[in-house]
Amino acid sequence: TQHIGIGMAGFGTVGTGVWETLERNGQLISNRAKDAFSLSVKKAAVRDISKKRIEGAPADLFTTDWKEVVHHPEVDIVVELIGGTTTAFDIVAEAIKLKKPVVTGNKALLAERGKELFALSREYGTPIHFEAAVAGGIPVIKAVQDSYVGNRIETMSGIINGTSNYILERMTTAGLDYLTALKEAQELGYAEADPALDVNGWDAAHKAILLATLAYGFTIPAEDVYVRGIERVRSLDIDFATQLGYAVKLLSLVKEHPDGSIEIRTQPSFITQSHILSSVNGVFNAVAVRGDASGEALFYGRGAGKEPTASSVVGDLVEAAYTFVHAAGHRGFLPYSDNGKVLPIEQ
Ligand code: NDP
Ligand code: HSE
Repeated sequence: TQHIGIGMAGFGTVGTGVWETLERNGQLISNRAKDAFSLSVKKAAVRDISKKRIEGAPADLFTTDWKEVVHHPEVDIVVELIGGTTTAFDIVAEAIKLKKPVVTGNKALLAERGKELFALSREYGTPIHFEAAVAGGIPVIKAVQDSYVGNRIETMSGIINGTSNYILERMTTAGLDYLTALKEAQELGYAEADPALDVNGWDAAHKAILLATLAYGFTIPAEDVYVRGIERVRSLDIDFATQLGYAVKLLSLVKEHPDGSIEIRTQPSFITQSHILSSVNGVFNAVAVRGDASGEALFYGRGAGKEPTASSVVGDLVEAAYTFVHAAGHRGFLPYSDNGKVLPIEQ
């Protein structure tokens, strides 16, 4: 068994979720990998070392210096979960240069500074995994990047900000005012550290930019994206929409036009109550991907929060870990075994 060390920069909502998921499912993950590797967190950077975080963590796990994490001799993979585009950039760049694969959920970083980071990633041959950056626990990045690679992607559209969607639903069904609903979303761990990004549309726009970059392969300048958020939506607007048979949702759209140009927008929209997206509520996200061969598929699930996001981060960690034991990763190498039992069907 190869012991693969994880270094975590950031141990807040998502970081804690990653630790707990590895604690709960670490053995299951090793079993699935036929004991080729085990994963354990060796060092974690935080801002405030005095905060009580988790039971059972070694006293020397935490540091306030992210360099200690990235340079730690037992850290093989670096997980960036601090957010923002400055220190996070330095962490990811440093890890890439040290040839330590990076896992991140930071859509702002990749949408705004992805060009530099992906160039570095190619130069050093160090991968960046970022499933958690779009739609929390829904594996839509891998779908667009891998499963749909044989398609021309015609459109990707849907609801990709859990906080806005949660706020709109609470305003609609519980009659809450906007600020109270936002406070709830923050308490539930859905909102960004700077919640302005959620409500001004930019968090969703960053995700749309990432999806477009994956589908069309070029860097999208943020100024070419039409972005409006929900901060001006009031209970009265929602009441009118409801009376007219609509739901109000923050919709994002990526669309290829016949001349090859790509339209990208995020904006509050009226959706008829019979449309499937109008029933996507609370923290749920839904992304409809239409390929020329595949036709349309809808990806639906929890778009934010500790555990769903940790699910995507851990999935990426495992993918990164496989490359240490098998250069080609794990795809196409299904570990068959005769162990296990199926519950007999009762007549
Ligand atoms: P939190 O604010 O809960 O956690 C951030 C963590 O980073 C905290 O542990 C904080 O320390 C630490 N931190 C911040 N700055 C520094 C620094 N300079 N040096 C060392 N540590 C630092 O954020 P989340 O966990 O919610 O989000 C993390 C990332 O994941 C963001 O990029 C976000 O966009 C993304 N994401 C979040 C989702 C969610 O549902 N929350 C979903 C998908 C992606 P301390 O604890 O001491 O304050
Ligand atoms: N703040 C984000 C949201 C987290 O609410 O969707 C998930 O990316």
